[in-house]
Amino acid sequence: MPKKSRAKAIYVLNGPNLNLLGSREPDIYGRTTLADIADMTAARAEKLGYTVVFSQSNHEGELVEWVQEARAEACGVIINAGAYTHTSVAIHDALRALDCPIVEVHLSNTFAREAFRHHSYISAVASGVIVGFGATSYILAVDAVASLIEEAAE
Ligand code: DQA
Repeated sequence: MPKKSRAKAIYVLNGPNLNLLGSREPDIYGRTTLADIADMTAARAEKLGYTVVFSQSNHEGELVEWVQEARAEACGVIINAGAYTHTSVAIHDALRALDCPIVEVHLSNTFAREAFRHHSYISAVASGVIVGFGATSYILAVDAVASLIEEAAE
């Protein structure tokens, strides 16, 4: 891949069960599918001059590998680690090794839900956190990561 397009890729990483969006607990997560969200984020990023690499995995190790890949390939990372948000020291450690902006995103307002969702291993290593706006959380995250990238370049 040419260097220029690599430097402009925002990685959007999605964790377990997010492949079921649209049919999974729609009262909590809405009816928008992950494919819809991929299209929405790509369109927003394109308007701002970025490309998106959008991925989902149900496997913690695969998410760790993508975060490691992002060290060389991404100018920013948006991550919804799903349930691994609340459990994964491995993803936390992988994110610590990144030196680009990281935005943690959640569809639901995790703080208005069960106590076990109130702690995130991602937040401490994220530049910022966007929670509770449904699929719009991802659009807000693209705007946020783009402005952090621009600020860092100034
Ligand atoms: C979620 C919130 C997590 O607590 C949950 O395990 C998910 C989805 C969200 O986007 O609201 O899988 O990350």
